[in-house]
Amino acid sequence: MVRAVCPGSFDPVTYGHLDIIERSVAMFDSVIVAVGSNVAKNALFTPAERVEMLTEVCAGWPSVAVTQFSGLLVDFCRAQGAAVISKGLRSGDVEFELAMAQMNRRLTEVDTVLLPTAAHWSYVSSSLVREVAGLGGDIDAFLPPPVAERTRRRVGERLSPS
Ligand code: PNS
Repeated sequence: MVRAVCPGSFDPVTYGHLDIIERSVAMFDSVIVAVGSNVAKNALFTPAERVEMLTEVCAGWPSVAVTQFSGLLVDFCRAQGAAVISKGLRSGDVEFELAMAQMNRRLTEVDTVLLPTAAHWSYVSSSLVREVAGLGGDIDAFLPPPVAERTRRRVGERLSPS
């Protein structure tokens, strides 16, 4: 049985992430979607909120579990019995992702599968979606409906705190 971890910030989860999770589901017996819990200063959602949204949108895949992690990703993988890290790769990310994959393998033998992002999602990132949402743009093409709704609401709260 091969278990893979799909790690990320998922702030918020996009259709690009879901494409990688779906392809990982097809390749591995079990998939843990792992939300990094290092709180970035400009994060839109807390790690717990991201887990909640991911759990909702991944509900159709019985082999997927969603959880937070902190500390080294490879320590989390070992603790979960996962031999593989499965991640999406955009063209601009190659050097950084390669270095992380090599470092993670050097640390623990946990290997990384880098899946080329689907061409039609290659320009989509959580940070760009946050920026578009913050400036009032339409984000419905990039996020599942419940995530888009929560993103709009959170951006609105940030812009006009009560
Ligand atoms: O969606 P992101 O922001 O690209 O996700 C980054 C994440 C959480 C996967 C990455 O920062 C990570 O692996 N953090 C855990 C800390 C760690 O193991 N650092 C060493 C990397 S070689």
